[in-house]
Amino acid sequence: MSDVIHLDTDTTSYIFDVLPTGQVSSLYYGARLRHMEDYSPLRQKNDVGYGTMVNISQAHKTIGLDDQCLEYSGLGKGDYRESAIELVYADGSRTTDFRHVSSKRYRGRPDIETLPSALGGEGEVETTELLLRDEAKSLSLILYYCVYASHDVITRFAKLANESGESVRVRRLMSAQLDLFGGDYRFVTFDGAWAYERERHDKTLHPGVYVNDSKTGNSSHRHNPFVMLVGTDCGEWSGEAWAMNLVYSGSHAQICERTYQGKTRLLSGINPSGFEWLLMSGESFSTPEAVLSYSSRGLNAISRNMHRFVQDFIVRGEWRDRERPILVNNWEATDFDFDRRKLLALAKEAAALGIELFVLDDGWFGKRDDDTSSLGDWKANEKKLPGGIEGLVPKINALGMKFGLWVEPEMISEDSELYRAHPDWAVATPDRAPAYGRNQFVLDLCMPEVRAWLVETMTGVFSQGNLEYVKWDMNRHISDAYSKALPPERQGEFHHRYILGLYEVLAELVRRFPKILFESCASGGNRFDLGMLCYMPQIWTSDDTDAYARLTIQGGTSYGYPQSVMGAHVSASPNMQTLRASTIETRFNVAAFGLLGYELDLTMLSHFDKRAIREQIEFYKAHRRLLQFGRFLRVPVTMDEKKTTWAVVAEDGKTAIAGLFQGSAKVGLGQDLLKVPGLDTDVAYRVTGRKQYINVRAFGGLVNKILPIKIRGDGVLHSVLSSYYMFAMADEAYVANGDLVSAYGIKLIQQFSGTGYNDRVRILSDYGSRLYLFEARE
Ligand code: GLA
Repeated sequence: MSDVIHLDTDTTSYIFDVLPTGQVSSLYYGARLRHMEDYSPLRQKNDVGYGTMVNISQAHKTIGLDDQCLEYSGLGKGDYRESAIELVYADGSRTTDFRHVSSKRYRGRPDIETLPSALGGEGEVETTELLLRDEAKSLSLILYYCVYASHDVITRFAKLANESGESVRVRRLMSAQLDLFGGDYRFVTFDGAWAYERERHDKTLHPGVYVNDSKTGNSSHRHNPFVMLVGTDCGEWSGEAWAMNLVYSGSHAQICERTYQGKTRLLSGINPSGFEWLLMSGESFSTPEAVLSYSSRGLNAISRNMHRFVQDFIVRGEWRDRERPILVNNWEATDFDFDRRKLLALAKEAAALGIELFVLDDGWFGKRDDDTSSLGDWKANEKKLPGGIEGLVPKINALGMKFGLWVEPEMISEDSELYRAHPDWAVATPDRAPAYGRNQFVLDLCMPEVRAWLVETMTGVFSQGNLEYVKWDMNRHISDAYSKALPPERQGEFHHRYILGLYEVLAELVRRFPKILFESCASGGNRFDLGMLCYMPQIWTSDDTDAYARLTIQGGTSYGYPQSVMGAHVSASPNMQTLRASTIETRFNVAAFGLLGYELDLTMLSHFDKRAIREQIEFYKAHRRLLQFGRFLRVPVTMDEKKTTWAVVAEDGKTAIAGLFQGSAKVGLGQDLLKVPGLDTDVAYRVTGRKQYINVRAFGGLVNKILPIKIRGDGVLHSVLSSYYMFAMADEAYVANGDLVSAYGIKLIQQFSGTGYNDRVRILSDYGSRLYLFEARE
């Protein structure tokens, strides 16, 4: 049938056609298929109706929309599942009936008005547009499919145009609807809270509706917009997976419904909860862009598709492909309690260790000595910083480091000059005192004058001295949603207009400051999404810097996002958030699989830590491109699921780095297998354990077992020894073929497991870890 549209990427096909009743029916999204003369094997057969079926037309008595796989569903014509579109017309009716009119295909892709969208020129992307019409109401709906063949990604968005002569209230307009023929799937979501973001959860689907959403006004740490449907037998290396993400930073929803008849629907878009948009005649409304990918080769493959897409088509600007600098951030070192002398002492230590960028965090402006004041007063506190930022930057630059600054521009403190001058700029509902979050209010970005003030004020801040990096924070959920800039009938537009306002401000600032490296942040990873990544090439992953917790946080994040966008810092031990102790080497080994920074008081380091850090930084610099941009893999450790292996593999497969991370140490379990799939199977590799050190403090009195002299476990001598003695972890060197390492792994030298020690024994202990470098032998 001529209406069949068959889209191909390198390894996938997406096929749909038009039902005899006019709706667009989805036939297939899966492994790539050859084009067919006759697509009837893919068509659902409807030769008799069923019990309660509602049929849209008497000419087609056997077609009920409720049990069809459709591309975009409305309400009121017999599809009782969650719908993609919900409208209220001027006459109060709500039935929608969009039918196919025409389609066109062209190279390249359109932008989306007012929203950020993926990049891609004519050589990289092909677009198919479907035009649907609801004739009775003179509405057009255009469905866009942008095919990124070489990345195995298809993006989707929709545009509703009102030509009816009357206004229409849009209560739901989702970016994409994916209907799968079958029900045995797991719905995989990435959920969390402050300082515990994006933990993977798999929900086995039973008939019913599952919602993954945010109502906080930002994409939120509660439920990330990246989700997957996976086959019941899908693992990291095999099985079917369909992934969907959204280029959007506001309240979103991914609604998944499995029906009793064995169909599964996944919708993604702006959260319909609390949303209503008044669309006047002559206007159109576009959704954010959804990013879809399929793989039959498991979760690492789908992650790979998403990673490449984010790197090539979401992140943009000067810094997209550039190696990111190793930074020091003063937040966990000093909190608000610093002055210029303290900062310079920190900077001096950082420079001596090889750190490249000094980031001054919260507390540099107004009279901000805690989190109760000054947001909005973006002038340096001269008491803390005589000469201001302009006085400080040259001193940092003179140490050979770049300088970067923290700001939280979307916020206003009640105790601020800005609030005293413009109390009406804070988001609040009429006749109610607004709720507080971290003692602060949110600026109303729906107001044009607030946006204009923000752009000019930040332009002033970013023009101070030689500013090369900005951390753009946003530290509260939005409450009391209401804008004085909107009439009553448009208050349902508040959350979306806030995000549109934010995007307008960011677009302008990024245009004015193309050289600045921006890092997005929202109490850690409370706004970790593709929308922010269109403006800022990296995001602070989490306020939890504990290495062990980070295995879950960075590991969860890695399903949808590459390590090249994840800020990861080495912080103090015991850790500030969990009070857990971990070694300086493990803290580095985890952070090395991200954009490395140090966030601890470097002026208080022992000689041991300093030496270890210096070597870590040398290692990171030597392998930075691989660590930041290599292919990231999660390798399940089949011998012990409490252990984690991560790896990064170079594009040509000739080098790789793997990290083996242990949970709690167990007596008698001394054997580990190090497997890294994806190496070049035809070459042999030299494999070496990174030179790592063990602080003998960890041994307490046991240190006497390895020393020729006897010392007290908690004595002064022990303390001096632990600061100066670099006890090296056993050397490890192997030679192994790529096919062996990819398919099976290397049996590592024995781990200390309760009995003897010699220099052929690895000591890992609780939360221990080691990195291994793989280099192809010539
Ligand atoms: C947030 C950020 C932190 C730090 C503080 C400063 O919590 O996530 O990294 O910048 O704000 O107040």
